[in-house]
Amino acid sequence: MRRLLLAALALLAACGVAETNEQGGDQAERQVAPVLTTPDARDERSFARPETARVTHVALDLDADFQARRMAGTATLDIQAAPGAGEIVLDSKGLDIQAVSDGEGRPLQWALGQGDEVRGQPLTVRIGEARRIRLRYRSAPDAAALQWLTPQQTAGRRHPYLFSQGQATLNRTWIPTQDSPGIRQTWEARITAPAALKVVMSGERLTPEGEPAGEGRRAFRFRMNHPVAPYLIAIAAGDIAFRELGPRTGVWTEPSMLDSVARELADTERMMTAAEALYGPYRWGRYDMIVLPPAFPYGGMENPTLTFLTPTLIAGDRSLVGTVAHELAHSWSGNLVTNAVWPDGWLNEGFTTYFENRIMEAIYGAERAAQEAALSWDEMQSALTELGADSPDTRLHAAGQDADSSSSGIVYDKGSIFLRTIERAVGRERFDAYLRAYFDRHAFQPMTSARFLADLREHLVRGDRALEERLMLDQWVYQPGLPDNAARPDPAAFAEVDRAVQAFGAGGAAAQLPYGQWNTAERIRFLNKLPRELPRERLAELDGALGLSSTGNSEVLFAWLQLALANRYEPAVPAAERFLLAMGRRKFVSPLFETLVGEAEWGRPIARRIYARARGGYHAVTTETVDRILREAG
Ligand code: BES
Ligand code: ZN
Repeated sequence: MRRLLLAALALLAACGVAETNEQGGDQAERQVAPVLTTPDARDERSFARPETARVTHVALDLDADFQARRMAGTATLDIQAAPGAGEIVLDSKGLDIQAVSDGEGRPLQWALGQGDEVRGQPLTVRIGEARRIRLRYRSAPDAAALQWLTPQQTAGRRHPYLFSQGQATLNRTWIPTQDSPGIRQTWEARITAPAALKVVMSGERLTPEGEPAGEGRRAFRFRMNHPVAPYLIAIAAGDIAFRELGPRTGVWTEPSMLDSVARELADTERMMTAAEALYGPYRWGRYDMIVLPPAFPYGGMENPTLTFLTPTLIAGDRSLVGTVAHELAHSWSGNLVTNAVWPDGWLNEGFTTYFENRIMEAIYGAERAAQEAALSWDEMQSALTELGADSPDTRLHAAGQDADSSSSGIVYDKGSIFLRTIERAVGRERFDAYLRAYFDRHAFQPMTSARFLADLREHLVRGDRALEERLMLDQWVYQPGLPDNAARPDPAAFAEVDRAVQAFGAGGAAAQLPYGQWNTAERIRFLNKLPRELPRERLAELDGALGLSSTGNSEVLFAWLQLALANRYEPAVPAAERFLLAMGRRKFVSPLFETLVGEAEWGRPIARRIYARARGGYHAVTTETVDRILREAG
């Protein structure tokens, strides 16, 4: 209770007066979101000192320079500062800052301070009485948030392409602002690009066709009037086209992919309706998606109003659209209510994995949802085994400390199983009502683990001692391992598949397997549950009977390659090489290289040979991980 009171006071103290500025009509509507000032909300990954001075609004005016691979222009920041604050500290990584002035163009003093490899450098500006500053700058050609693709890296092979990835702390490589998820900012942007390209961003599109912007260029304008965490500012530019999917949904992708992509994502509007029925109104206007070139390092990224997706989801049978449900769910858990600091990432990802499953159940039925939940349980078990159940890295709060390297089996899967455990304890109806109200109470605000537990106790547990005891809340959030009240998956979910695993393990023929009738989840379960050691004849039999090396389903191919490579099954190497050259999704790329490297004198040369060819096509997020894997292999 005391904790809650303190948190409430901190929130109030941080709630500045609504922005009233002479800068035109828009500004009056903009909300200024509070910053939490409790110790658990202090962001160690940012140099910002928001209690002294914080950014409330970012206005970008940038040229996308494909030759130089730089974003160049200005960022104008609106600031709220304590009286006499004197300076503001921003985050910057590799930015070439050319000049800083106040709103009237008078030069201000600034300095880049001592930094480190992880956080970049603090950029301190002497603001004096100024509450608006303008920075003229350009990003570095190797800015980690940006990937500049050559025409050869696109489906159309005629035009270059650019996309950004902000989470967790990459946006400071192209936007000089306070890059902390607890410091929400509204934003607007004007971006120019070569006239053949369209530019899209994670906000409202103000100029659908663009505007002339000088010789051979066009400008596109955007705005986001809700305060968002700055990692959610995102951009993509390329030869892209749009297809409407429903009244509020649509998809962007390269023209040659538009038909297949639209078919795959056709259920999105229904997912949106289902999500709203669960957690309340969708507050962002449109929900569009962009299916990016295969270099995109993630499965999906929940950029507001414009989810970014990997093309490896396009399986032809909608079997991988759980990722769409996931990114859509982030419109509530993550984008509306946001982890204040990255060690609380489970508040974004664990909640979202739970919600994803609820959306999947609503659209595709309880059976498919139970199967996907059972796969998630397996992922959590693997993480617990790998890390050791008493490892501090298996805690939800501060799991792994580092948002980019923490185990997804903990943050996503243990996180979602925690929420399912609460759901089963109090009943679905009551838990749904609680969650819906939670999103209302904390909309457009940061969240910490302690704050969530306080909210849960106040609004759901409400002093029920027996319930409090049954839930084991603190153990779930702050202790390693798995509490023994964990909601287990439905044992019936994969009963038939598990029998088939037994039969094959006992020497049964691959041709006898009912594999052709299985859905994707069942195929993945089958491959993941097979004995980890198999002789080459058995692998050849499986590959021949089930067509594994030539499957078009990226998740099935991945599960197969993991098994095959771990057994040094040479005939699978060409398929692995093709796959690793065709896409750069880290979730697939890095475990495959790890498996190869683990096969010492057999796999290491293969890994090195493939990586030498593939590395140039990968995003910084992926190369950083694979570089480390190969470095540590010696
Ligand atoms: N927000 C994440 C992606 C992310 C996490 C980027 C951490 C940077 C740091 C996104 O919502 C996500 O979870 N994507 C998953 C797909 C999901 C279905 C598990 C992915 O990329 O595989
Ligand atoms: Zn996610």
